[in-house]
Amino acid sequence: MNIDIITVVPDILSGPFSHSIMKRAQDKGLLKVNVINLRDYTTYARAQVDDYPFGGGAGMVMMIEPLANAVESLQKDKTYDDVIFLTPDGETFNQKIANTLSLKKNLLLICGHYKGVDQRFRDHFITREISVGDYVLSGGELAAAILTDAIGRLIPGVLNDETSALSDSFQDNLLAPPVYTRPETFRDWKVPEVLMSGNHKLIDEWRHEESVKRTQQRRPDLLD
Ligand code: ADE
Repeated sequence: MNIDIITVVPDILSGPFSHSIMKRAQDKGLLKVNVINLRDYTTYARAQVDDYPFGGGAGMVMMIEPLANAVESLQKDKTYDDVIFLTPDGETFNQKIANTLSLKKNLLLICGHYKGVDQRFRDHFITREISVGDYVLSGGELAAAILTDAIGRLIPGVLNDETSALSDSFQDNLLAPPVYTRPETFRDWKVPEVLMSGNHKLIDEWRHEESVKRTQQRRPDLLD
């Protein structure tokens, strides 16, 4: 799977995919992340990519031209399944969207900055708009990193234990159950006995009950 990301601050994205599971996914050739500097596609002086808003008001607006140049240039080599704009007014990202996007072959993510992006770019080039939550970030880069990580780990073969993504929180609208490891007793805090029983049927039942309990307590909305 290819995830291309257009940004004015490529440095922000140099870290998140260079470690751990994202690194392994790329080393195995299952995921390719390509960070593209928008300034390479502007024809304006001093690599300008933004300008004052028509009609006045505070903040700068990203111009359509460099963005259109960048997207059309990338589209010469690839057909994108989705061209996604990261924006706080998009649909809220969740595990279901991550699952859907993990089945795609080529995704293009566009990181916004400043006050926003010329609406004509959104109207004519963007196929999907996604927010990572009801708060405003300084730019779309961290949101793009969240999408890439959440999608990348779902690509078959990326996680060592294929079932571990299936038991993640949210995969069946349930939060994950508590987990424990050695030592069996720390101070006087013991691991629940059932987990030491070796009875996998009982353990599965216990985990399911704990998942339901935790979801009822913390996220009853998921059970609706
Ligand atoms: N850019 C700024 N805030 C954002 C958010 N919450 N989600 C996605 N992109 C953003």
